[in-house]
Amino acid sequence: MKKKYIIAGNWKMNPQTVEEAKRIATQVKKVAIKTKKIETVACPPFVYAHLVNIADAFSLGAQDVHFEPSGSFTGEVSAEMLKSVGVKYVIVGHAERRKMGDTDETVAQKVGAVTGAGLQPILCVGEKERDSNGDYLGVLKNQIIASLGKLARKDVKQLVVAYEPLWAIGASSAMTPADVRETALFIKKVLSDTYGQEYALSVKILYGGSVTFKNAKDIVALGQVDGLLVGRESVNPEGFNLILKEIDGI
Ligand code: 13P
Repeated sequence: MKKKYIIAGNWKMNPQTVEEAKRIATQVKKVAIKTKKIETVACPPFVYAHLVNIADAFSLGAQDVHFEPSGSFTGEVSAEMLKSVGVKYVIVGHAERRKMGDTDETVAQKVGAVTGAGLQPILCVGEKERDSNGDYLGVLKNQIIASLGKLARKDVKQLVVAYEPLWAIGASSAMTPADVRETALFIKKVLSDTYGQEYALSVKILYGGSVTFKNAKDIVALGQVDGLLVGRESVNPEGFNLILKEIDGI
């Protein structure tokens, strides 16, 4: 069977009420349940996880995790806790978390905690800016290698990488499909050089940054990625459902 596309919604710190969260989950479920080529992943704030988990059209994702297994870490949530409420994917190293203090080192620890619990990390990587010399490729490569830390080869099959160039997050337009394609190939090459081709090919690569129903299909089909990590449009059920329809039609 052909691999399914992953269309993941990163709800970030939205919406503000449980009623609105229910409305989003219910609306998206109607379309998600009918798709054939998509695994729809919803990554709501922790407090709304139960809403998404009962909607059997979704896989449940979390937006972050703590790397320690348990203990005195006020405000934090462990990978085992996430697993116990049905989480399958965990976003790790999102640019917004890195801005709040995550480093490549803590990201690597989180990747280890997530794979250790048998869950799948969606590791976010991306350059701050692009320069004409191509130096950003070196930045990206170092970030990928450092963020994976000592991830064992056997755990690479659990890995998903979300390429999110920082300049395209929350922006007015996304990266061009041609640039997405080139960068996704580069990421695969870095993974292949690190873990070997067979393992690298098993890693799904997503694109994130200003995805809408207007650009989703071209980014996936021409950009040759395995799916999308959607921000703003993931809490706009009408727009997110159109993204699902566009990708299911590829
Ligand atoms: P936007 O889709 O709002 O640009 O956000 C992208 C993102 O950060 C997804 O994780």
